[in-house]
Amino acid sequence: MKKILVIHGPNLDLLGKRETDIYGTQTLSAINDAVTAATMAHDVQTEFFQSNHEGDIVDKIARSEVSGIIINPAAYTHTSVAIRDAIAARKDIPVVEVHLSNIYSREEFRHKSLIAPVAIGQISGFGRNSYVLGVMALLGLIDEKI
Ligand code: DQA
Repeated sequence: MKKILVIHGPNLDLLGKRETDIYGTQTLSAINDAVTAATMAHDVQTEFFQSNHEGDIVDKIARSEVSGIIINPAAYTHTSVAIRDAIAARKDIPVVEVHLSNIYSREEFRHKSLIAPVAIGQISGFGRNSYVLGVMALLGLIDEKI
């Protein structure tokens, strides 16, 4: 069975309580449930991983045996060469970058994603639907490869 990995970066464990004016009141587990629901019609298993630690995210990207990855790198989007390099090293699988908020309509430091050039594509600004759309895109990419 195909397997996809959903990685949530730092502070996303606080969703529901954190800056609700920007990120809404949905919890991370509600987002994961929406992703699981979106994969129901497909023959795919989904693993979820959240970490506040850059190196743990790097290890997860490098060591996972999966067909594709959805990643919301959160604040590391704008700072992490290590996560970018880990993704660049996974040329064997598609990686889709997602953001809950529209990073281009926020502070200037969020306008730059170090991840975008090494991801297949980016979905930003649709709340939890960014993840759902990301999964749809990823499954399409995986199916095309088979
Ligand atoms: C975020 C956007 C980032 O700029 C921010 O640091 C986050 C969440 C988003 O999903 O909108 O933590 O990745």
